Amino acid sequence: MKNILILHGPNLNLLGKREPEIYGEHTLDEINQKLITIGKDKGVDIRAVQANGEGALVDALQRATLWADGVVFNPAGYSHTSIALRDAITAIQIPVVEVHLSNIYSREAFRNKSLIAPVCIGSISGFGWRSYVFGIQALISLS
Ligand code: DQA
Repeated sequence: MKNILILHGPNLNLLGKREPEIYGEHTLDEINQKLITIGKDKGVDIRAVQANGEGALVDALQRATLWADGVVFNPAGYSHTSIALRDAITAIQIPVVEVHLSNIYSREAFRNKSLIAPVCIGSISGFGWRSYVFGIQALISLS
């Protein structure tokens, strides 16, 4: 596992300001920098992308097949609604780990179901920014 895409969905560009009691105080840039540093320590090249639109996220997943060995994906609100993102994950031939900062099972009922989780190799929820770290570790453990 040499190359990993970290893909962030809608509203995650607002991390740090957005409901910090739920999502933490770190900005998206701070989280990405931590992940890139952790990747370097493990000899893994990490690239991070954030998009608010469903189509842009589908494009990012499709493009990942050109260079990435795996994807750590926080689909954010689309986790609970998006058949298009689910289909994109099914269509690509690289492993995807779903991650969430918050524990989606301890929140509102509409967040308890993810359409994405069943087509991922696994899913990690509730560990704040460290959910992404565990996602990276899970992908590395596959190779
Ligand atoms: C989230 C959980 C989702 O329910 C929510 O819509 C988000 C963030 C998380 O990381 O905890 O935007 O994916």
